[in-house]
Amino acid sequence: MCGIVGCVGRPDETLDVLMTGLSNLEYRGYDSAGVALSNEALSVEKRAGELSELENAVRTTSLHGNVGVGHTRWSTHGAPTDANAHPHTDCSERVGVVHNGIIENYDVLKQELQSRGHTFESETDTEVVAHLVEERLEAGTDPESAVRGAVDRLEGSYAVGVVVAGVDAIFAAREDSPLVIGVADDEFHLASDVPAFLDYTDRVVYLDDGEFATLRPGGLTVMDAEGVPIEKPIETVDWDTEDTGKGGYDHYMLKEIHEQPHAIRQCLSGRVDELHGRVELEELDGLSTPKRVQFIACGTSYHAGLYAAHLFREMGVPAQTFIASEYATSPPPVGEDELVVAITQSGETADTLSALREAKARGAETLALTNVVGSSVTRECDHTMYIRAGPEIGVAASKTFTSQLVAVNLLVEAMNGNDAGVLTGLRDLAGDLQSVLDRVNVRSAAAQLAAADRCFFVGRGLNHPVALEGALKFKEITYVHAEGFPAGELKHGSLALVTEDTPVVAVLTGDDEETRKTIGNIKEVESRDAPVIAVTDGRVEVASFVDECIQIPETHPHVAPLLANVVLQLIAYRSANLLGRSIDKPRNLAKSVTVE
Ligand code: F6R
Repeated sequence: MCGIVGCVGRPDETLDVLMTGLSNLEYRGYDSAGVALSNEALSVEKRAGELSELENAVRTTSLHGNVGVGHTRWSTHGAPTDANAHPHTDCSERVGVVHNGIIENYDVLKQELQSRGHTFESETDTEVVAHLVEERLEAGTDPESAVRGAVDRLEGSYAVGVVVAGVDAIFAAREDSPLVIGVADDEFHLASDVPAFLDYTDRVVYLDDGEFATLRPGGLTVMDAEGVPIEKPIETVDWDTEDTGKGGYDHYMLKEIHEQPHAIRQCLSGRVDELHGRVELEELDGLSTPKRVQFIACGTSYHAGLYAAHLFREMGVPAQTFIASEYATSPPPVGEDELVVAITQSGETADTLSALREAKARGAETLALTNVVGSSVTRECDHTMYIRAGPEIGVAASKTFTSQLVAVNLLVEAMNGNDAGVLTGLRDLAGDLQSVLDRVNVRSAAAQLAAADRCFFVGRGLNHPVALEGALKFKEITYVHAEGFPAGELKHGSLALVTEDTPVVAVLTGDDEETRKTIGNIKEVESRDAPVIAVTDGRVEVASFVDECIQIPETHPHVAPLLANVVLQLIAYRSANLLGRSIDKPRNLAKSVTVE
């Protein structure tokens, strides 16, 4: 997820407008940023790091242009460096391109272009677009058709904005990535999200997939996928600039919970060959199925590790998960037969990096599973797989956990021969998760839990890590004591705490035998008068004997826990909201924990 901005029709202020837009969109990405302004020539300035780096750089230049585009980046291909920052240009530096999304066929396009003499300055997928446009301009094609022709070659998801030296226009196209146009008399703004230009206009045109727009001072044209000009309605938004970064949601966490269908699509993008029914992880070429696996991680990522180890064991590979801080000081036997997987969304967690170094020192092969391109863990591991969740601002992890579980499924399927049922479950997951977000009502469950002094979360098998994660999410943002347990373990001690004031949330999905046993555990707490909230895929009937039953769609047992987890995220969020907590920044916590 990156942020795109563009402006035509304010020739004296283009740079200021772009910088304001980028600052309003910084929540969409903050590892590098850049702008390209077009007059007779193209002027480009871009910097790795936070937007302030670019602000310092442009202060000492006299960038000027009638039109311009800008970008704030969240890396998917290539580390966050100056060279990989957008805008990207062609060999003759006539074309400037900003892009959000993933161009799946960029490798093929890049090789093609290189064979025709193009040289590339970056490791990004985006740069191919600039070279594709350049070729067409050199062949005498007019700029608008040149950009349309280039866009026609792209596969994957994209929102692109293109400027060409000497042309007072921005060309824009979208497919599976958001793009909106702001309309203000004779000036037009381009952005991946409305907040970018709310300082200038509240009148917007939303582009749809396959559409192509040309923004010129004084005129906007939009064409459909066939190139036929179309009339688009201009809508007025009533957003408050206060809410901008949150996209209209009250909190980043809620926004990020709702971004999960998109995050899932990004994680799967280009990694599942639908035609042959198999997962292809190009980035892991050279990594074979290990003899044994150890996962090291902290907090939410540790729960992803527990889930991952379960799947590996199911495929017959001995697998264990360790709390990284424990592993760092007391590592288990580990050597070259082990693949050690560091799961860390930030890629910077000191405990996880220390554990990783212990494993490496003992000869283990290492794999990083992370969200942050170029983070420390990627530099220290032999292999890296990105989870591609996009930036997460809320301190409590939500979409990154879901993306970790999706990535783990891809890893297992790539190594385990591609189970058709799992692949179908993954293919349907974004839609299933959307239907949970649209239909599930957690208000009364949240009210009940928010009123309690403590609550328990239970689940078996793959639902055990989900129960642990549900409890962690709940306690970190509500400040109410919550604990997660393997459902069968409650009776071995903690049952002593269960009373009519201890609500128990039970997760029951997938395996019917496990579900029946969990039902036995539900009866145990009910006989101590505890209210029970069940989250179930409905394979086994539970509604008749629990206090509240929240139903999720039925899907493959490996995938169902991801849907149950979303219900628990919503319960935690709603309860914390009822209690008036600081949801995005819970007390005492930080997003990236870089001390041991
Ligand atoms: C909880 C949460 C933390 C992190 C943990 C590890 O919501 O986000 O428990 O999961 O601090 O962080 P990463 O994944 O960056 O290593």
